[in-house]
Amino acid sequence: MSKQLIITSALPYANGPLHFGHLLEHVQTDIWVRTNKLLKKECIYLCASDAHGTPIMMKAESENVKPEELVKNFTKEHEKTLKGFFINHDNYYTTHSEENKKYSELIFLRSKENKLIKKQTIEQFYDESKGLFLADRYVQGTCPSCGAKEQYGDNCEKCGTKYEATELINPVSIFSGKPPSLKESEHFFFDLSKQEKKVLKWVNKTDLQSGVKNKLSEWFEEGLRPWDISRDEPYFGFSIPDNPKKYFYVWLDAPIGYIAILENYLTKNSSTQNTEDLWNESEIYHFIGKDIMNFHTLFWPALLDGSNFRKPSNVFVHGFMTLNGQKMSKSKGNFLLIDDYLKILNPDYMRYFLASKLSNGIDDLDLNLLDFQKKVNTDLVGKFINIASRSQGFLKEFNNVLSSEIDENLLSEFSAKQKEILNLYIDRKYSRAIKEIMTLADIANQYIDSNKPWILNKDPANKNKVHSIASTAINLFRILNLYLEPVIPETSEKIKKYLKCVDSISDVSNYMKDWEIDSFKPLITRIEDDEITTLMEVSKNG
Ligand code: MSP
Ligand code: ZN
Repeated sequence: MSKQLIITSALPYANGPLHFGHLLEHVQTDIWVRTNKLLKKECIYLCASDAHGTPIMMKAESENVKPEELVKNFTKEHEKTLKGFFINHDNYYTTHSEENKKYSELIFLRSKENKLIKKQTIEQFYDESKGLFLADRYVQGTCPSCGAKEQYGDNCEKCGTKYEATELINPVSIFSGKPPSLKESEHFFFDLSKQEKKVLKWVNKTDLQSGVKNKLSEWFEEGLRPWDISRDEPYFGFSIPDNPKKYFYVWLDAPIGYIAILENYLTKNSSTQNTEDLWNESEIYHFIGKDIMNFHTLFWPALLDGSNFRKPSNVFVHGFMTLNGQKMSKSKGNFLLIDDYLKILNPDYMRYFLASKLSNGIDDLDLNLLDFQKKVNTDLVGKFINIASRSQGFLKEFNNVLSSEIDENLLSEFSAKQKEILNLYIDRKYSRAIKEIMTLADIANQYIDSNKPWILNKDPANKNKVHSIASTAINLFRILNLYLEPVIPETSEKIKKYLKCVDSISDVSNYMKDWEIDSFKPLITRIEDDEITTLMEVSKNG
């Protein structure tokens, strides 16, 4: 029996609305999950909001609400936003849960038994007036290398130098504006160096992308060092067993959240299956952005291994999305929220555009709104939907019943592409799948062009010929629709209703003969200039 697939998108932080970077990841994952489900694989697609950490605690403080409340509201909002884009999670949960507390403690204690946890005292900046140890991003000062002012405590945005916060010249806390003091505190470390061989073994046997392997070999060359997994109070997170004033660092409990979401999924579905058994018997795939690669390809496999859980079958990494050629940035007025898009345009348009850009590499990807408009209007409306629009008129006098005489040679040319297109989706080469499908759409349009049914139709003697041409075209349209289904699910569903079909990509070779379809309705329409103008304005407001 083939294994169950557990598939995840990274867990978005619950301190703000979701933007187009998140969308890229969820669309990439969702297309993959849908394709696997069409192939009759058993898939569980999991996600949640990432609830813990200092930024969320600070955001709650500034809004005068409890962090629990903030997280609850954003979790609901995120789930709704992603549903709006037809992202089909099987469970959308939160890392601030009983299940996650249980598994975080379990994995910590097992790692401890396996002698992978050690304690060490470290010295850190501390804001006396705020009573808070300062993470790197909460300290600012002058770059020790180039002298640029107001640089954060990890690296200089001007010259790129990496340093310790304590190396900054004239450091101040961003909360009080005062120089921080240095304070000692004892922390828990996960001894990554002890797991180096095991992680390397996992890396070597896993079919990781070449860009990911390159990055990993850089890290291995530097050598793996113990990883600080604790934070001092005040902190929003889970306190460490027997150490009530210490908390698990958010990046410890966040990936463990994947297991916790699975447990919650099983509970919600009244399943009696044991979570740990299911995890260990499944294939596990994580979709993530390149900024969180180290957590998923070093720390996470090391943690799982150290606590006797199955390691990921693969980690699929994507690049960053830029908007109109620039880095997405709220403060610089170049930012697009998913909810803002949803107020203006059809989600399938953007799903199609993203798919047409996505490869299985880790390069960045630009969303140029004018390209987006052009691509959707040319491909989806001008090529794909056009096959149906220009054929349906000829069917009226046949009461929308398709002929039994259709061009089966041409149809089999189309249905023969099924395997290739499915493989491209499974390999996450979505842009190539879209190219193949649009080449077929061109062929379908050429078929109509060269047969000229609108001319044949002038002579009643050609009635059957015209009927056959239009029926063949509608059959070609049906096949293309099935190929596009993982990408544009809502439009595909609408088209299936129009064709009165309930089939899927596995049925591409069953043609519609003597088959009644619905009378035509406009399925999707062109993107107008003013809609793009509105989107541009919205993205400038951030
Ligand atoms: N909470 C962590 C993930 C924990 S997973 C156990 C996190 N959250 S995030 O909200 O910052 O990012 C969530 C996902 O969105 C990450 O995979 C990240 O790479 C991705 N993206 C965030 N901005 C992005 C772009 N501009 N472009 C593409 N993906 C980006 O990291
Ligand atoms: Zn510098």
